[in-house]
Amino acid sequence: MAPDTAERYLRFAATQARGQSPAYDMLAGRIAGDAELLALIERLPEPKRQPNLLFGAVRFLGGPIGDYQAFRAWTSAEWPRVQRTMRGWSTQTNEPGRCATLLPVLAALPQPLALIEVGASAGLCLHPDRYRYRYDDGPVFGPADSPVVLECRTAGPLTPPGRVPRVAWRAGIDLNPLDVHSADDVRWLESLVWPEQHERLRRLRGAVGVARAEPAHLVTGDLTQALDGLLAHVPAGATPVVFHSAVLAYLPIEARESFAGRALDLPGHWISNEAPGVLPSVERHLPRPAPADRAVFVLALDGRPLAFTGPHGQSLDWFA
Ligand SMILES: C[S@@+](CC[C@H](N)C(=O)[O-])C[C@H]1O[C@@H](n2cnc3c(N)ncnc32)[C@H](O)[C@@H]1O
Repeated sequence: MAPDTAERYLRFAATQARGQSPAYDMLAGRIAGDAELLALIERLPEPKRQPNLLFGAVRFLGGPIGDYQAFRAWTSAEWPRVQRTMRGWSTQTNEPGRCATLLPVLAALPQPLALIEVGASAGLCLHPDRYRYRYDDGPVFGPADSPVVLECRTAGPLTPPGRVPRVAWRAGIDLNPLDVHSADDVRWLESLVWPEQHERLRRLRGAVGVARAEPAHLVTGDLTQALDGLLAHVPAGATPVVFHSAVLAYLPIEARESFAGRALDLPGHWISNEAPGVLPSVERHLPRPAPADRAVFVLALDGRPLAFTGPHGQSLDWFA
C-alpha cells in the first residue's frame, strides 16, 4: 500500500525530523506503517502529501500531536476538515532568522537598498534593518526597540557587519502572499513552525509585530513574471537587491536557471540562498562540496557562492 508515501514519511522522519522534532519524528515514522492513514493521504494530489503540510494542518485545526493513537483517531475522524486545510494552504514557512545570514551581504552593498524578495511568503525577511543581531559571542546590534534578536554562529573569514543596512524601500512577490494582519494567515505560519521550536515561534511572533508596524509592499504573482513590474518602482538613488531563500526549489529546473540568467542581468544585485542542487549554475562555483551530515543552503551574490548557511539562519560558514 502506497510505498512511495510511506517511504516519503520514513525519509522525513529520518532525515528532517530526527533530532529536531521528536513529535514529528514519531508521527511520521508511525504513519509510514499505518495503511489506513496512508490511504487517506494518498487521496490527495502528490504535492499535497507532504508530512509538514499534514502536521501543520492538524495543528492549525487544534488536533493532538503528542500521542500517536490520539493523533490517528482525531485525524481520521476529522479527515474532511484536514484534507480541506491541506488543499487550501501550502507550506509557506517564513523564517525571519534567515536575515542573519543575508545581513553581511546586504550591509556591504551601496546604501540605501531597495529590497525585492521573490517568494516572500508574509514578507518577514524584508525587514533586516528592523531586527537585532548577535554573531557568536559578539555584541548585540540593531534597533534597540526591536522585539527580535537573531543569533548566528559563524565560521571562516567573516567580520560581522556591526550595523544594519539602510532600507529605502521593500517589496515582495509571492504566488500567495500571506497577510500579517490576518489572524488565520498568522496562525497558519505559526502552525508551520515545528512544535518543539519555541525560539523560532517567539521570533516569528516578534517579526509579525515588526511587519505589522511597517508592512512591505507584497504583490501576488509568479516570480518569473512579476519582477519587472516591481523593479520599475525602485526609488532613484537606492540599490536594487533582488533576493530569495528556500523558493526556487518550487520551480522546474529550467525555470530556475532561466530566472538566474535574468537575475544576473538586473540592475543592482541578486542574492540567492537556496539548498545545494537547486541552482547548478551557482553550485558549480562552490569551493568545496556541501556538508553531507547537515542541511545547509548556499548563499551567493550575483551567482558567486559566499557561504554555506543554516537553513533557518542559525549559522554562516563563510568561504575564503
Ligand atoms: C518556503 S517559503 C520561503 C519564504 C521566505 N522566502 C523565507 O525565506 O522565509 C517559499 C515561498 O515561495 C513562494 N513561491 C513558490 N513558487 C513561487 C513562484 N513561482 N512565484 C512566486 N512565489 C513562489 C511560496 O508561495 C512560498 O511563500
